[in-house]
Amino acid sequence: MKSNREVSICQIMLPSQANMAGNVHGGEIMKMMDSAAGAVAIKYARCNVVTARVDELQFLKPVLLGSLVTCTATIVYVGNTTMEVVVCTEVEDLESDIGPEVALTAYFTMVALDKSGKPRKLTPFEPVTAEDQLLFAEAIERRALYKKRLK
Ligand SMILES: CC(C)(COP(=O)(O)OP(=O)(O)OC[C@H]1O[C@@H](n2cnc3c(N)ncnc32)[C@H](O)[C@@H]1OP(=O)(O)O)[C@@H](O)C(=O)NCCC(=O)NCCS
Repeated sequence: MKSNREVSICQIMLPSQANMAGNVHGGEIMKMMDSAAGAVAIKYARCNVVTARVDELQFLKPVLLGSLVTCTATIVYVGNTTMEVVVCTEVEDLESDIGPEVALTAYFTMVALDKSGKPRKLTPFEPVTAEDQLLFAEAIERRALYKKRLK
């Protein structure tokens, strides 16, 4: 069941979020992505969460003033106290016939916290579909890579 592992948030980009040429500031979209990752992590963990890490943030297409931005956050891996969340951001010019296009992607590591602010154990997630198993295995590889780098 994906419904407790996925959350989308949308917003039309406003002048206060853009520069004078109409390009939306990267930080505005990153904030939306962090909010989406936080929302899905809270939904899964049913407790407070914090962002511990962001990996492989990529800006693939410009985001322009007036466009509709949708951030979809999906939990692909659950560790002892952490969740890895893939966030895919799509941008759509509502006045054109072109549909939504992927503009940014990133992997967020969110940590579940108990009432005293300590990392809290999570219910494991067993990937069932072939796609979920692939995403799960990729998350384990990423985790092993950054743990090696942190040593
Ligand atoms: C994230 C945080 C809670 C981890 O606390 P900690 O005492 O280091 O916790 P632990 O060493 O027990 O690690 C807990 C989990 O977090 C993971 N973790 C900790 N730091 C990490 C990092 N930099 N990158 C990825 N994972 C990390 C650990 O691998 C562990 O995962 P697991 O339980 O699934 O195996 C702490 O560093 C913190 O509060 N950071 C600030 C978070 C914040 O303010 N974010 C922005 C606002 S939301």
